[in-house]
Amino acid sequence: MLLKLRVLLLLVILFIHGDGTSASDPDPIQDFCIPNPKFGSIRTAHLTILPCKNSSEATSDDFVFSGLKGTGNFTDTGLATIPVNPAIFPGINTLGMSFVRADLKVGGINPPHFHPRATEIAYVVEGSVYSGFVDSNNRVFARVIEQGEVMVFPRGLVHFQMNVGEKPATIFASLNSQNPGLQKIPTAVFGSGINEELLEKAFGLSQKQIGSMRRRFDPKTVS
Ligand SMILES: *[C@@H]1O[C@H](CO)[C@@H](O)[C@H](O)[C@H]1NC(C)=O
Ligand SMILES: *[C@@H]1O[C@H](CO)[C@@H](O)[C@H](O)[C@H]1NC(C)=O
Repeated sequence: MLLKLRVLLLLVILFIHGDGTSASDPDPIQDFCIPNPKFGSIRTAHLTILPCKNSSEATSDDFVFSGLKGTGNFTDTGLATIPVNPAIFPGINTLGMSFVRADLKVGGINPPHFHPRATEIAYVVEGSVYSGFVDSNNRVFARVIEQGEVMVFPRGLVHFQMNVGEKPATIFASLNSQNPGLQKIPTAVFGSGINEELLEKAFGLSQKQIGSMRRRFDPKTVS
């Protein structure tokens, strides 16, 4: 009963100032909220809410994530990421943030992409990374950042990275939303099923060229 009341209160508060256009994740209304797997999740028009477990049952382990010690699985562009969100690290639920470890092979790239709901800061743990973003006037801000340096990618702007060093590179990045979203430009454009004729006209490419882009970026054949 108390739980239902708390969920109801949360729903009311989210309804008042947490609609889909709000500038950032809603403010927490308690210290933390470790989701209780017993209660599943509640879907509202705008978001999925995970009911919290009683805070007296939280332990130190709930706030520690140990899954970033190694690299993730490499894609064919030489990038391996381990994105960490409340689904795999319940301790960050409702705290308005998430993070990711990214590893780049020598010459590897993180293709142009953006996060619709988060600004990102990327810290180079190791290596030498050409890193940048494009603003809404199509101006590029990019340079090589070295171990110990941080670059910020403003919310919703297209950004990219490439390992230009002679060793593998490791980046730790933090995002100011627990659900930042990720759209990769090549996949969004060529791998999403947009009408082919439209793409030909938009890019001035032939049917054959669009076909080869489609095969390359179709998510069914690309990881
Ligand atoms: C949380 O746990 C404490 C201690 O077991 C208990 O006193 C309290 O009633 C519980 N709160 C809720 C909302 O279930
Ligand atoms: C890497 O791939 C393996 C096999 O598909 C999978 O079990 C593992 O969870 C993946 N690792 C990461 C960090 O995604």
